[in-house]
Amino acid sequence: MKEKNVQHQAEVRHQKKLVLENIKAQEEERKKIAVMIHDDIGNRLNILSLWLNNLDTQGDELIKKNIYDQMSSLIDAARGISHSLYPVNLESVGLVLYVEELIANLSHKINISLQVMTGYEKKDLFIEVQLYRIIQEFTTNVIKHSTATDLWIYMKDYSQNMTVIISDNGQGFDYEQVKKGMGIKNIESRIKSMNATHKWEKTFLNKGSRLIIKIPKHNEFPNQISPD
Ligand SMILES: Nc1ncnc2c1ncn2[C@@H]1O[C@H](COP(=O)(O)OP(=O)(O)OP(=O)(O)O)[C@@H](O)[C@H]1O
Ligand SMILES: [Mg+2]
Repeated sequence: MKEKNVQHQAEVRHQKKLVLENIKAQEEERKKIAVMIHDDIGNRLNILSLWLNNLDTQGDELIKKNIYDQMSSLIDAARGISHSLYPVNLESVGLVLYVEELIANLSHKINISLQVMTGYEKKDLFIEVQLYRIIQEFTTNVIKHSTATDLWIYMKDYSQNMTVIISDNGQGFDYEQVKKGMGIKNIESRIKSMNATHKWEKTFLNKGSRLIIKIPKHNEFPNQISPD
């Protein structure tokens, strides 16, 4: 019995490690592509647009304007792809400001309020990347599926864990019934990768949806896993 139990635990540990390594490898790959788009395409386009702006094209104002408009949208597109692949500046900016930027970018689509309770401290980069991705996917789902007008993000630090609650006032969905896509699967594997627990709930008299995540502090994360 005891031996079987030990064997089972080793198997569970192994599976968990595979999941974590998989997420980490994906993240590394995305980072490489994102940095390439950001630094290479993005910066080149910026230089080109500066150059274009200084070019003496008097009499060709319309052409100049058209190219300039195209340039701006190319720059935005490159930035958009890069950000969705990997949150390039997250490390320097930190999760809170990064989420604020996301909120500003989506302000024409949905009203998002971010509430960070006092005492909140910056987290390990791994955690911040996972949380950003979860918020990003949840938000995308809300915009895509819920017809909500408002979305709330709440973060609070406790001594043993950190709580994150994301909710919307849309039509809501039944977790058991709904056909899960990559979005929810990714959210859940990211939650698992932080050794966190979670709960999906319905809000507002069965309208709206809510995701509650509790992330333990003092944890062993994949970036601390030994290479054996
Ligand atoms: N905030 C929400 N409000 C209402 N319905 C939702 C919400 N989030 C998810 N859903 C429902 O859950 C389903 C599964 O979501 P999930 O993100 O896994 O897949 P998806 O958004 O359909 O596709 P993708 O793989 O591109 O994310 C959605 O199709 C939608 O029906
Ligand atoms: Mg989705």
